[in-house]
Amino acid sequence: MKYLIANWKSHKNQNEAVEWLQVFRSKLTVNTLVLKKLSENQLTIIIAPPYPLIVSLHNQLDDTIPNFFLSSQDISSLPEGSYTGEVTGVSLKGLVNYSIIGHSERRKYLGETDDMIAKKVTIAKQSNILPIVCVRNEHDAIPNDAFMVAYEPVEAIGTGNNASIREVLDVKNKMSNMSNRIFLYGGSVDANNCSEYLTNEEIDGFLVGSASLDPQKFLEIAIKM
Ligand code: PGA
Repeated sequence: MKYLIANWKSHKNQNEAVEWLQVFRSKLTVNTLVLKKLSENQLTIIIAPPYPLIVSLHNQLDDTIPNFFLSSQDISSLPEGSYTGEVTGVSLKGLVNYSIIGHSERRKYLGETDDMIAKKVTIAKQSNILPIVCVRNEHDAIPNDAFMVAYEPVEAIGTGNNASIREVLDVKNKMSNMSNRIFLYGGSVDANNCSEYLTNEEIDGFLVGSASLDPQKFLEIAIKM
């Protein structure tokens, strides 16, 4: 199984999100190659929109796209309660199947630590949400309950300078607590460079930012998977 995840970050409003899905669906329904991979469980596609757009996308999902799921881009480390502004596992349960946790942008701008990330992973698990834990290097902790690990070197994110497959595998080998875990690469992945990584069985897929914002560009990656 390969995984292709769209991380929309803080992009798109409601209309743009709905339009993205309509365009993606219409392109996909004529793309028998990708549809076959999805329906035969060779490929899973996951979209991580901003919080306010999750419900409308959730309401539009149907069987026309098999193996297609939603993810949040974060989850609170706190339980349900008096925590103004926090979005908890209780709120997300049933709306998303996955949650991206510990993205380097959250570590950088929101001060997230390995300790908070570990708590978020526990909360996600309790809410039946599969955690996709992002790490910047082999030193970032991988909680035991991480379902997938996405290695995203900071210098490769949004720069066009994707890491070489050698570097990706080198860091993966140095990671502790990785055995048998789904391993993704993220950082300037697009349709032109994704095939390189797919030649190696050690890489199970991608976390894609910029190239996921346009449904055509995102589909082009799916075609190569
Ligand atoms: P990018 O972002 O594809 O724009 O480099 C990846 C990410 O930050 O998840």
